[in-house]
Amino acid sequence: MKHKTALVTGGAGFIGSHVVDALIKRRIKVYVIDDLSTGKKANLNPNATFFKMSVLHPGLMRLVEKLKPDVVFHLAAQIDVRCSVEDPPGDAEINVMGTLRMAHASAKAGVKKFIFTSSGGAMFSDDIRPPYSESLSADPIAPYGIAKRAAEMYLAFEHRIHGLPYVVLRLANVYGPRQALSGGYAGVISKFSQTMLAGKQCMITGTGRQTRDYVYVGDVVRAQMLAMEKGVTGLFHIGTGVQTNVNHLFKKINALTGSKQKETHVVACQGEVMRSALDARKAGKELGWKAEVPLDDGLRRTVEWFAKHASKK
Ligand SMILES: NC(=O)c1ccc[n+]([C@@H]2O[C@H](COP(=O)([O-])OP(=O)(O)OC[C@H]3O[C@@H](n4cnc5c(N)ncnc54)[C@H](O)[C@@H]3O)[C@@H](O)[C@H]2O)c1
Repeated sequence: MKHKTALVTGGAGFIGSHVVDALIKRRIKVYVIDDLSTGKKANLNPNATFFKMSVLHPGLMRLVEKLKPDVVFHLAAQIDVRCSVEDPPGDAEINVMGTLRMAHASAKAGVKKFIFTSSGGAMFSDDIRPPYSESLSADPIAPYGIAKRAAEMYLAFEHRIHGLPYVVLRLANVYGPRQALSGGYAGVISKFSQTMLAGKQCMITGTGRQTRDYVYVGDVVRAQMLAMEKGVTGLFHIGTGVQTNVNHLFKKINALTGSKQKETHVVACQGEVMRSALDARKAGKELGWKAEVPLDDGLRRTVEWFAKHASKK
């Protein structure tokens, strides 16, 4: 289906800003809603129309009904798992209520496709062996994952009762240019790259043998575009299926940045799973999507980008 207008929440953030760029490249008119809590104006594509607004703002519904976008990409979120553990109500307000308000407003505005960015890594506990497929029951352990799961269920409701066509993309750990220094393993590649380039010591939490599935942001944007273009509904896992541990990332980024750091470990974080990877075969079959950027390639592109942009931050 050909769409003419798109609304991207969180479009000044890491993944959202790349989604905006891809839409503008396709000559789609793009509106961005972002409160700039972690996003940056510098990430914003100058051809997008920007509304500095929270998805919790009372005027949100009116704005969505006025814009009447063909497609909505909902990426605005509180993304730090540790913050969700410290403040579960604050996390739920943005990640549950913010998503429900956007979905309900979109249903009322007659949006043709609502694409929600959820998390695959936060959805399963260590009781299950990765890679995880969509058919497994979600078992989130932290409030961040619980909120994302609740939001997915509200979306299924908006689809069933209010007729909102939707896709949920449960992403693995995304990395690449523009990723901010954030807490948790989600940002470990960005953190190691920027810290090493600045000549500071990187800390590995715990043994460093914890694994995650690292997927390059360009591959994730391609999945978002396919979710918009294909006539599909429902849940898709977006990842490489490959587990990589933190010690391996440390070695690779140490070499790429030319730093000669020794591995230094600090106490492990509580409540984080030891292993994670996603099975993306359903996305392969129904979206025609497969991760294409190998980790070594993606790491090189990421380090090069941070090396080039370090002085501009
Ligand atoms: N980065 C990852 O590895 C990863 C993995 C799985 C899922 N996700 C999901 O992808 C989405 C984007 O994450 P990201 O990594 O780009 O993070 P990010 O922090 O760069 O992007 C989030 C954006 O949302 C904005 N925002 C936050 N609260 C808002 C609010 N109340 N109203 C309006 N805007 C608000 C922020 O300013 C920011 O621009 C999130 O939904 C996140 O949960 C990310």
